[in-house]
Amino acid sequence: MAQLTILRYPDPRLMKPSEPVEVFDDALKKLVEDMGETMYKAPGVGLAAPQVNVRRRIIVVDTSEKRDNLMVLINPEIISLSEERKIYEEGCLSLPHIYEKVERPAQVKVKAQDVHGNWFELEGDGLLAVCLQHEIDHLKGTVFVDYLSPMKRNRIKTKLLKEERELKKVASTKSPDRNKKGGKR
Ligand code: NI
Repeated sequence: MAQLTILRYPDPRLMKPSEPVEVFDDALKKLVEDMGETMYKAPGVGLAAPQVNVRRRIIVVDTSEKRDNLMVLINPEIISLSEERKIYEEGCLSLPHIYEKVERPAQVKVKAQDVHGNWFELEGDGLLAVCLQHEIDHLKGTVFVDYLSPMKRNRIKTKLLKEERELKKVASTKSPDRNKKGGKR
């Protein structure tokens, strides 16, 4: 198993739609395992393939308290949404430390395929309903901040870009290459 790199918002690759999975082979099983490991280590309750730079319709979810119920949904489709809506504070592994309230349908019914290609249905409410909708959104290229006002979204974008620049600066001062070039201490 391997931990995958999670793309950070506003990386344009997060805004592109994903393609359906057509081949259910060992490579898919490996990818799903790696996605699970990446999600647990992050830690997060859900991860979509485009977040690890794979533009395929695959999501992994675990909203259980014990974190021992990995759900894998391949080619997931929403079948129905409740009229009742609820507001949850959402976060995303591609937007570290950003949490904002989003209103969505309270219950959701989804159909998806497992790693062998078999179709199944899943109903969720509470956190699972939020998580399923949030992750399926990623497959359309939608991120939860797209539901916020443009002003709020821009503020978040600016903050994350600034953080990213600072992270890169830290990484370059720590890199051994710089010591070679600069030499003196
Ligand atoms: Ni997300």
